Amino acid sequence: MPDSSAIVILTGAGISAESGLATFRGPGGLWEGHRVEDVCTPQALARDPALVHRFYDLRRAALESAAPNAAHLALARLERDWPGGLLIVTQNVDDLHERAGSRAVLHMHGALNSALCAACDHRLDWHGALPPGSACPACAAPALRPDIVFFGEIPYRMDEIEAALSGAGLFVSIGTSGAVYPAAGFVRMARAYGARTLELNLEPSAGSDWFDEVRHGPASEIVPAWVDTLLAARS
Ligand code: OAD
Repeated sequence: MPDSSAIVILTGAGISAESGLATFRGPGGLWEGHRVEDVCTPQALARDPALVHRFYDLRRAALESAAPNAAHLALARLERDWPGGLLIVTQNVDDLHERAGSRAVLHMHGALNSALCAACDHRLDWHGALPPGSACPACAAPALRPDIVFFGEIPYRMDEIEAALSGAGLFVSIGTSGAVYPAAGFVRMARAYGARTLELNLEPSAGSDWFDEVRHGPASEIVPAWVDTLLAARS
């Protein structure tokens, strides 16, 4: 049964674009001539580990010098001041929500600052480059890989996400193209459970028609404006 005060927010690469982190699709979406769908797969990792590790090393390095923008900060303020429940489900592998002050954040596609052992599933914090063949500190296998959900792998924490969607009164999607499932299907799932739905994006996403309301513009402008309106309506 949805709780009208419970909010689930899905975020994508668009919320971090104004922090200087590249989005995956659209202008600049190609990386060294490769489509992201051709680099971020288990097959690519097996075939050319140096290429896949370099892709994530560059993103991890870019993250070092990036900072949260007004959209991340507004969501952290909302979590602090909103009297109901609030959960951010992010497809992003950066940590800008956490650095902005958000606490309730689920990383469904993994995290750049984490390494995963392909042999024993041990996870550890990782900063800086991750050379292919790095040894796992738990089992010693030379099998550390980026802790990222590749195309064809199952996103993390889906049970918790579906439980949150089933209880949400409001579902908000921010900065995502709606091109990648299962996240692209969350709007329909939330609607089916009875939530109101809102899209905040630079432009209409692939799933725009599924939302009750859409607002278009840069996240650093439209997200703080939406948070202000929401909090003002409650006070
Ligand atoms: P995309 O790159 O597919 O889409 C980014 C969306 O953000 C687009 O709809 C843009 O119009 C929008 N956008 C760009 N700049 C914006 C701004 N300043 N303000 C608001 N919106 C803006 O990124 P995702 O939808 O996040 O998966 O991509 C989904 C997944 O595909 C990613 O998580 C990644 C990738 O493969 C993994 O890493 C596993």
